[in-house]
Amino acid sequence: MAAELRTYRHDTDFDRVGDFLVETFGTSGGHINWLRPRWEYMHFHPLINQIDIDSIGIWESEGEILGVVHPEHSMGEAFFEVRPDHSHLKPEMLRYAEEWISVETKSGSRIEVWIDEEDAEFREILIGAEYVSKKRHDPMSFRSTGGISAEPVLPEGFRIQSLAEDDDLYKVHRLLWRGFGHGDEPVDDTEDGRALMGIEGRKLMGSAPNFRRDLNIVVVAPGGDFVSYCGMWIEPVHRLAYVEPVATDPDYRRMGLGRAAVLEGVRRCGLEGATEACVGSTMPFYLSMGFEKRYGSELWSREW
Ligand SMILES: CC(C)(COP(=O)(O)OP(=O)(O)OC[C@H]1O[C@@H](n2cnc3c(N)ncnc32)[C@H](O)[C@@H]1OP(=O)(O)O)[C@@H](O)C(=O)NCCC(=O)NCCS
Repeated sequence: MAAELRTYRHDTDFDRVGDFLVETFGTSGGHINWLRPRWEYMHFHPLINQIDIDSIGIWESEGEILGVVHPEHSMGEAFFEVRPDHSHLKPEMLRYAEEWISVETKSGSRIEVWIDEEDAEFREILIGAEYVSKKRHDPMSFRSTGGISAEPVLPEGFRIQSLAEDDDLYKVHRLLWRGFGHGDEPVDDTEDGRALMGIEGRKLMGSAPNFRRDLNIVVVAPGGDFVSYCGMWIEPVHRLAYVEPVATDPDYRRMGLGRAAVLEGVRRCGLEGATEACVGSTMPFYLSMGFEKRYGSELWSREW
């Protein structure tokens, strides 16, 4: 039966797409779909209000999802999730992204698409459609959850705990605000209209169905401020821990706090059955902890 295209319906499709990603996740080369936790993180991220959720397209046949095209944190950037035996849908999915996920520019329209670096088939489709490589890569790195001491190494006076012990959203917000370079002190989200960029956004993230306060690690400075953060998500079927987000307050960098937070998060996921942890990065910070790149995606763009 032919694949039918329809618009994503959050209430009924969020979990179904999640299950589809779990079922089709694989690291054997060719096209690799997103990990399920990234899909969840996207939907409960403060930037979710920057995208048009109705732009997500689903290809389905007899109740089985065959493919999904969607943005992440902004319009103009598309991602493709495809059932491995339905890669013939890719050209149609690309046209869909051009129509529904592209953004307007001064001279017309633009779409950027992420494809797996090993997906020669998709690359040929893009070249044929006059896309150009942006020479930007989005790597995924892995390490074992084993071999981590239960006694994190921290400077004197600092301690490590999880949000299960203290879920102070202002402290979390201040740390992530400063850690991701938004400014010195967080603005009142209601004042500048970016409703989800403040405490409300942190509440949203904490409301994700698989958000685990006991796996969201913070390092606490002697004065009580949260100064380093590591969020962790577990995907139990593939026994994976997914690291997101990670940040250290700029005033407390290169003190080993980020490393302590990430390793503690990874260790706790190991106790929960995860055998490997993964992160969308090849920063020296992660490589220094033993993460190694396993696969990645690359960005292509077309303007018309
Ligand atoms: C990346 C980040 C979390 C590191 O936090 P941190 O607490 O300063 O890191 P640590 O002190 O634990 O660093 C541990 C090791 O990682 C490596 N490392 C950390 N920062 C590094 C940098 N800027 N350049 C090169 N290596 C670095 C070093 O090997 C370091 O050990 P060393 O200081 O003994 O040389 C922090 O710089 C940050 O918040 N950046 C902005 C947000 C971000 O990029 N998050 C990650 C997104 S996936």
